[in-house]
Amino acid sequence: MYLLIFAFSTVVFSNVFNTAIIKLTWHMKNLFSLLCFLCITVSLHAQGMWLPLLLEKQNEKEMKSLGLKLSADDIYSPANPSIKDAICQFDGGCTGEMISPEGLLLTNYHCGSSAIQKLSTLENNYLENGHWAKDRASELPAEGVTALFVSRMEDVTIVALQGVTENMSERDRQSQIDKNIASLKFSTKKEKWEDVDVRPFYTGNQYYLFVTQTFKDVRFVGTPPSSIGKFGSDTDNWVWPRHTGDFSIFRVYADKDNHPATYSKDNLPYRPRHFLPISLDGADEGDFTMVYGFPGRTDEYLTEAGVRQAGEVLDPAKVSIRDRALKIMDDFMRKDPAVKIAYVSRYASIANGWKKWLGEMQGLKTYKALEKKQAYEAEFSTRIQQNPEWNTRWKNLLPRLRQLYQDIEPYALARDYYMETCLRNNEILATAANLNTWITSYDAKSEYVFTGKLEAIKATMEGFYKNYHPEVDKVVLAAMLEMFAANTKAEWGADDVKEMAKAAGGYSKLANKLIENSIIANREKFMTLLSTQKSAEIYQVLKNDPAYTFWGILQGYYAGQVQPKLQELQPQINLLQRQYMAAQLEIFKEKRNFPDANSTLRITYGKIKGFSPRDAMQYEYQTDLDGVMEKYIPGDYEFDVPKKLIELWKAKDYGQYATTDGRLPVACIGTNHTTGGNSGSPALDGNGNLIGLNFDRVWEGTMSDLNYDPAICRNIMVDARYILFIVDKFGGAGYLLHEMKLVKGKKRKRH
Ligand code: ARG
Ligand code: GLU
Repeated sequence: MYLLIFAFSTVVFSNVFNTAIIKLTWHMKNLFSLLCFLCITVSLHAQGMWLPLLLEKQNEKEMKSLGLKLSADDIYSPANPSIKDAICQFDGGCTGEMISPEGLLLTNYHCGSSAIQKLSTLENNYLENGHWAKDRASELPAEGVTALFVSRMEDVTIVALQGVTENMSERDRQSQIDKNIASLKFSTKKEKWEDVDVRPFYTGNQYYLFVTQTFKDVRFVGTPPSSIGKFGSDTDNWVWPRHTGDFSIFRVYADKDNHPATYSKDNLPYRPRHFLPISLDGADEGDFTMVYGFPGRTDEYLTEAGVRQAGEVLDPAKVSIRDRALKIMDDFMRKDPAVKIAYVSRYASIANGWKKWLGEMQGLKTYKALEKKQAYEAEFSTRIQQNPEWNTRWKNLLPRLRQLYQDIEPYALARDYYMETCLRNNEILATAANLNTWITSYDAKSEYVFTGKLEAIKATMEGFYKNYHPEVDKVVLAAMLEMFAANTKAEWGADDVKEMAKAAGGYSKLANKLIENSIIANREKFMTLLSTQKSAEIYQVLKNDPAYTFWGILQGYYAGQVQPKLQELQPQINLLQRQYMAAQLEIFKEKRNFPDANSTLRITYGKIKGFSPRDAMQYEYQTDLDGVMEKYIPGDYEFDVPKKLIELWKAKDYGQYATTDGRLPVACIGTNHTTGGNSGSPALDGNGNLIGLNFDRVWEGTMSDLNYDPAICRNIMVDARYILFIVDKFGGAGYLLHEMKLVKGKKRKRH
């Protein structure tokens, strides 16, 4: 700082010497960049989603200095039982963990909810009212749900990239890699019940192989009611302070040899090589914590141009589109309880992305992500200039990426407009799009292909109609088309839409017409058509359905004008991003670069810690049951509280789950670097005991997918004590605790 002031005054006083000024400003700029850069590298401390395999080399020392009491080998070992044996990818997109020697699996309520929804009926609405299987025999098979465990992982970069050269075309490169991967998979030693997967890391600069086991007999054990599991719903989503008991419990079953098997009543509870003890002590501010799970996707190594595009162009577009759609849905939901029920989960999923992007946009701005990227890139350029070999290889990288981002921008925006307005937010066009593969599969000569899918289509469409309210969709569609027309170009379909709206007498009339005349929008007509007519007739009718043909027009523009450009430009960006990643790994050797999330097993660690969301405000690290009661709104769909919980609260009947000062902790936050997919991941203390269950991030820090900042990025966890309390005292399923291992030791004092 002093240096800067000094440099600044020198500049001011030497205004006679023009050249000197220019020189000095140049130095100042560089100095500023360097300072910024140093700040970034220093603050990078602990950030990252690390490969369990490399912990010993990359992280063990730091983890121990932060409070880890275990060795890297206790966390991940290919041979000995280790914590990794307790962690699984739950149902493809979330994480789950073993909390008993008999296959009890803990994950989030919002991760289990689609499985639980499928098992629910009107009389037994488990998702809404909560449910606990009274014994093993009453655990319900959750069809289709999987639990994937990692047996071991291996760096296979050398083999995967064998025969790949720098000047190969991208297509040749990929086909060489595909060949290498195929032979790797073939030659890898594995058991019959295991699978092998090879995945790119660091944007394709490294490859890792995973030997995995996927269990397919997963049964539903229990869940709190939605008023606990989803308490605060969309209003509180992504928000701290939080009071959601976002958990549900399943059990993994295996065959008699303890191996994965499809459902059979003869299957037995899976005996994992490790399960997590659960801490009754919780964690205090400053305590070490780590989160073990399957983070989905991050883009931490984008250039400034890439981040700018995400935060200033694409996010705002998507947010403004969803803004409109959500407002419309909300109006209807508030007026009509039937619409409420039908649209609540659709609304939640649209709102989830909307709110996250909004947080991301603001976070990037407030925490000066672009300035930081600029400083980083300036340092990158300075360093390559000092090394002739680097300079020849990489000097054009950043300018070319900048140019390519500029070139792709209109098309990326057109893609998002098409996806959001025509597919994501309104239902009729999305359904037409979904039916397209089936409709176009009709061929008079091999009609049986089309006919063979009839029953499956009927079932899918029944699912769609169950929650479809055309009166809502009409208003959404009108708004979407209006936005599409106003914000895209003639060559992408905007003028067509404008003209059709004009001919119809406005966007509302156009939307009404499309939906009223569409058979797809009408359950009775659609089902009658499919049940009474021959395939040829069904095909004719659907092919000419107004909603289907309308979608066809817009899709035609997209496929004809937008997609080819994306297909031309995106691979060029990918190639340069890969080179940029390779360059960063070499140039910034002193900085530990973690690979972006890619749905593979990772460890992230940090401390339990509050934060300051804005000037003069400080958020504490932990919430408790009193806070649930502060938010309580009787009868409200987001903030109602079950009667029994109120009684337990009044009686302060918290049993062994209370803190020493008599409070019942509900949720806490930490500096763990997490993302989507980490939902359901265990938060562990320094001894590997479960202290919480990850389920969200704080809104101010959702930009962490692009730009992690330890000042503001926090993950949100349900406190393990709240989970146990709800199972035991609230749910009356205390018998489940008998198979868990509860640990207690440390004395705690008030924070
Ligand atoms: N924001 C959390 C995660 O990304 C929870 C989402 C589910 N909850 C909700 N209210 N929509 O995915
Ligand atoms: N709720 C997210 C999930 O479903 C986790 C929160 C995040 O994105 O960090 O994975």
